[in-house]
Amino acid sequence: MAVAALGAAGQAAAQGNAPIKVGFMLPATGTFANLGEMIENGFKMHVNEQGGKLAGRDVQYFKVDDESDPAKATDNVNKLIKRDQVDVLVGTVHSGVALAMAKVARETGTLLIIPNAGADVITGAMCAKNIFRTSFSNWQPAFAMGKVAAERGHKRAMTITWNYAAGNESVKGFTEGFEKGGGKVSDNLTLPFPNVEYQALLTQIASQKPDAVYAFFAGGGAVKFVKDYVAAGLNKTIPLYGPGFLTDGTLEAQGEAAQGMLTTLHYADNLNTPRDNAFRLAFAKNYKTNADVYAVQGYDAAQLLAVGLKAVNGDISKRDQMQEAMRKAKIDSPRGTFSLSAAHNPVQDIYLRQVNGKNNEVKGVAIKSLADPARGCKM
Ligand code: BEZ
Repeated sequence: MAVAALGAAGQAAAQGNAPIKVGFMLPATGTFANLGEMIENGFKMHVNEQGGKLAGRDVQYFKVDDESDPAKATDNVNKLIKRDQVDVLVGTVHSGVALAMAKVARETGTLLIIPNAGADVITGAMCAKNIFRTSFSNWQPAFAMGKVAAERGHKRAMTITWNYAAGNESVKGFTEGFEKGGGKVSDNLTLPFPNVEYQALLTQIASQKPDAVYAFFAGGGAVKFVKDYVAAGLNKTIPLYGPGFLTDGTLEAQGEAAQGMLTTLHYADNLNTPRDNAFRLAFAKNYKTNADVYAVQGYDAAQLLAVGLKAVNGDISKRDQMQEAMRKAKIDSPRGTFSLSAAHNPVQDIYLRQVNGKNNEVKGVAIKSLADPARGCKM
């Protein structure tokens, strides 16, 4: 009996010291590659700030490049769950890929923290106790931009985006905010993800002459779109708006073309709070580049995981208790403190920002403490 008891104690101790396995499913190639890198760096920076441990446990990382390809998503997520046996999934950027991850997370009960992808349904009809998001829903910044565009007196807008969940939901959110404010969206233009052959669509905008254009693009696709819009001369008569992804992490490459652009997002480059200043300084020192919204979302994913693990003293098997603590977390984010809605999506301020040089400068708060409607969420 004594031997058996010792064995059990030894086993418990071994489990207690075993690392927490974090599975990153992020894009390492393609138009969103840079976004994936910023998320991973942000996440690791928080863990490193805790001495490389969360709730006393080491953290071991596993990685797959999801290529922002929904067709490969189920196989990729299963590599992390079945092959690597991760404790928690962290991913991803692309809404279509995240939808597949959320489906598998629901089926297997694996803890999933989404550090970007905004697919509305994930914290709507697909909401679940084990699925959390530290970024935004596609509706949030889009609805705010619609409201701002209407307040700026625009009456007729056109939209342009990639034809996939994030683009379509972003356009829908903008339309809701804009039409509520008295505007009308006259036409929605799309092209397949991740195409960047914008010319024919820009010609349509030129001929239809709306008062304003709303565009959802991100990463490499956003860089090219903003440059092409200006090269076509459209910015001289038709202001271009978007959710902040259109100009976040892209300004170095967009240069002159992005100057003066207004966007809405839950982060900006010069919030100038002690919290954000410390974060930006540390990030720049660690990674030799300026932090952006993606870095913040990754950092906050690690913060949220840390809250859950602390609540159970690192014993990840106490899942209900851990998830309950995550649900109630108040995250001291560089963006400003946020809490999570009942559907596990951030309730957060959406800033109005304007591009000045290499910064998305905050101009004010477009909507305070904005919660996603979480349509269809039943926990
Ligand atoms: C998305 O697919 O949800 C997404 C991708 C890049 C930036 C923002 C949202």
